[in-house]
Amino acid sequence: MPVSEQATPQAGAAEPIVEVREISKTYDGGVHALDGIDLAFPKGEMTTLLGPSGCGKTTLLKIIAGLLEPSAGQVLIGGTPVHGPGPERAFVFQDFALMPWASVVRNVAFGLELQGMAKDKRYGIARQYIEKVGLSGFEEFYPHELSGGMRQRVGLARALSVDAEVLLMDEPFSAVDEQTRRQFQEDLLYLLAEEDKTVIFVTHSIEEAVYVADRIVLLSPQPGRISSVIRPGIDRAGTPDEIRRDKRYLDAVEDIWQNLKKYLNEGAVAR
Ligand SMILES: Nc1ncnc2c1ncn2[C@@H]1O[C@H](COP(=O)(O)OP(=O)(O)O)[C@@H](O)[C@H]1O
Ligand SMILES: [Mg+2]
Repeated sequence: MPVSEQATPQAGAAEPIVEVREISKTYDGGVHALDGIDLAFPKGEMTTLLGPSGCGKTTLLKIIAGLLEPSAGQVLIGGTPVHGPGPERAFVFQDFALMPWASVVRNVAFGLELQGMAKDKRYGIARQYIEKVGLSGFEEFYPHELSGGMRQRVGLARALSVDAEVLLMDEPFSAVDEQTRRQFQEDLLYLLAEEDKTVIFVTHSIEEAVYVADRIVLLSPQPGRISSVIRPGIDRAGTPDEIRRDKRYLDAVEDIWQNLKKYLNEGAVAR
C-alpha cells in the first residue's frame, strides 16, 4: 500500500528548500482559493500537486513562484521568507510562453538574457541544453516551425538553462497527445536525474502524478486544502513499462482515484 504521511517531512528527510506555511488565498471578488496550506518540499525531490480543476493548484504554484501574494501565510526558501520571484525558482508555464518572433536558441537563452548575461555566454549555455533535450539542429527555427512536443522541449531547455534549484511546472504536458506526453515524462525524469532539481509539478492526471513523482499531494477544492499526501515508493530503476506495471504504482493510482472520485461532480478529473 502507498504510505501516507504528514505534510511536514519525517526525521531524516532531506532539508526542505521550499516551505509553505499556513498559506491562504482569497481573490478580490471573494473566491476562497486556498485555505491553510502547510507543506515542505525537500531538496532534490519531485512533488506533484494533484486535484480537480479549480482546487487552487495554479494559485499555490504562483504563490510559491512569488508571482502572486498570499492573503495569509508565508513562503520560505532555504529558511528565509520571500516576497517575490527569485533566481532560485523557475516557473514553467502551461503553454511554455515561447516568444513567437524569436528563434529556438534565443527563446532558450531568454531566462539568462533577463539575468543580464552576455550574448555569447548565454547562447553557449542555451546550445548545451538544446542538445540535452534533443533539439540539436533546430537552433535557428521559430516556434511555429516546431511540433507541440518540440516547443515543450524548448520551454524545458529554457527552464533548465537558468539553473534554478527549484522548478515549478504547471501542467506542462497538458497540450500534447498522449504519446508525446509519455515520451516527455520519461525525458523529464531522465534530465532531472542528472540535474538534481527540486520540482513542484502541477497536474490533474492521476497517472502522470504517480509516474513522475516521489510524493503526491492531493488537494480538495473550495477552498483548496491538503486532503492527503502519498509516497508510493516506486522503484525508479525499472523501465517505464515496468514502472507502469509495478504494484506500488497501480495501488497508488487506485488509492488516489478513490480519493478524488468524490469531487467528480464538481469538476473534471482526468484518469
Ligand atoms: N485571478 C483570479 N481572480 C479571481 N479568481 C481566480 C483567479 N485565478 C483563479 N481564480 C479562482 O480560484 C480558484 C482556484 O483556481 P486555480 O488556482 O486556477 O485552480 P487549478 O489550477 O487547480 O485549476 C478557482 O475557483 C478560480 O476560478
Ligand atoms: Mg491550473
